[in-house]
Amino acid sequence: MSGTEKKSSNIVWHEAGVTRQAREKMNGHRGATLWFTGLSGSGKSTLAHAVEEQLHRTGIRTYVLDGDNVRHGLCGDLGFSDVARRENIRRIGEASRLFVDAGIVVLTAFISPFRSDRQQARRLLGDDFIEIYCDSSLEVCESRDTKGLYQRARAGEIKDFTGISSPYEVPEAAEIVVNTGGMSLQESAEQVIDYLQHHRIVVVS
Ligand code: ADX
Repeated sequence: MSGTEKKSSNIVWHEAGVTRQAREKMNGHRGATLWFTGLSGSGKSTLAHAVEEQLHRTGIRTYVLDGDNVRHGLCGDLGFSDVARRENIRRIGEASRLFVDAGIVVLTAFISPFRSDRQQARRLLGDDFIEIYCDSSLEVCESRDTKGLYQRARAGEIKDFTGISSPYEVPEAAEIVVNTGGMSLQESAEQVIDYLQHHRIVVVS
C-alpha cells in the first residue's frame, strides 16, 4: 500500500477552465489548510471546530476533516500501523489539496504522529499549509481520557496506541503552537484566528 506508487496509467491531466484564482475571487478569500496535530485527546477536533465556527460566521468557506469521522469512510480501510497511518495522512494531504484548489479553508484534525508524513503534506501544499500543534502533555490527555481509550491501551486492549505504544513526534517548526493543555478553548481559538489575521491568510471581521 505504498502511497507514491502509481497504479493508473493512460491518464491525462485535464486543465480546468474555472481556476483556483477565479474560485477564490468569488469566495472573497483564499484557500488554505489548517493542519491540527497532537495526541489523542489534545483538543484538535474541538479547536478545529471552534475556529471553523468563527470563520464560518464571517462568511469564509470552511470544511473540517476529522480523524474519527474520516476513518468511517474515506479511510475506513486503514488501521493504526505505521504504514496505515502514513497512508491515512497521505490521503488527507491529497484531499486537502483538492479543498484548497476549490478555494476552501480546510481544517484537518488528525494525530498525524510522524514528522515525515506531515512534512510530505507540507511539501504538497506549500504556502497553503499551516501546521498547528495542539500541545497537551500525555499526562493531561490521559487524565482526561474522554473516549476511555488510554485506559484500554494501558490494559493492552488496543495496540499501537499513540503516546503509549506508538510514538508521537512533536513538531519542530509548527506555524502555531497552542497550549491546549493549559488554555481555554476560547483563548486557543483566538490565538489561531490572530495568526490567520496577522499573516493575512483570512480577514476575519
Ligand atoms: S492518525 O495517527 O492516523 O493520524 P487519526 O487522527 O486518523 O490517527 O485517528 C485517531 C483517533 O482514532 C483517535 O482520536 C482515537 O479516537 C482513535 N484510535 C483508535 N485506535 C487508535 C490508536 N491505536 N492510536 C491512536 N488513536 C486511535
